[in-house]
Amino acid sequence: MSTAPSLTLRGVEIYQHFLDRAAQQALVDDLRAVQRAAPLFSPETRFGQKMSVQMTSAGKYGWFSDRRGYRYERRHPSGVDWPPIPESVLAIWRAVTGLDRLPDCCLVNFYREGARMGLHQDRDEADFGYPVLSVSLGDDGLFRIGNETRGGKTESIWLQSGDVAVMGGAARLLHHGVDRIRPGSSTLLAQGGRINLTCRVVD
Ligand code: SIN
Ligand code: MN
Repeated sequence: MSTAPSLTLRGVEIYQHFLDRAAQQALVDDLRAVQRAAPLFSPETRFGQKMSVQMTSAGKYGWFSDRRGYRYERRHPSGVDWPPIPESVLAIWRAVTGLDRLPDCCLVNFYREGARMGLHQDRDEADFGYPVLSVSLGDDGLFRIGNETRGGKTESIWLQSGDVAVMGGAARLLHHGVDRIRPGSSTLLAQGGRINLTCRVVD
């Protein structure tokens, strides 16, 4: 594992090929257990549209959205506690961020063919001094990075399976999103698609 980003795009630090195939496979196995405890669901945006991405969470909090807005919840919609964040995920957080403080939430996003995520900021957390760490698994995803304010020029990069990205410091509140995935570009997930994990300190 290297600890220097292989490239920086608009301040977002990208560690390409951070995880080898065995580490990716171990993460997928751990995430299967997370999904068994807290099944994937498709939340509504605050505008009442069903999101094309399916999601669940691990940790003290899970990210949730409906017509009442975007927020963190202490429980999965079924009423069960979110399962703990797998040690394999926490190890990446420690290695890349070097922080003692561990994340309170690991959001698991699942993109099937045709799923996308519009440009948004991650700003439901209490302290933007902590970075958001993202891990990509499975099919390539076209990640778009914009600005702190809405609009303006953007730049995109294909994130591949095993890539880790960190949005911290001046990049913490940049708008970002995923335009599309490249179906069939990875053999990691038997059913295809893309998983993205984002770890956040919430409190
Ligand atoms: C997110 O912003 O929550 C997900 C980003 C990604 O899928 O790469
Ligand atoms: Mn985000």
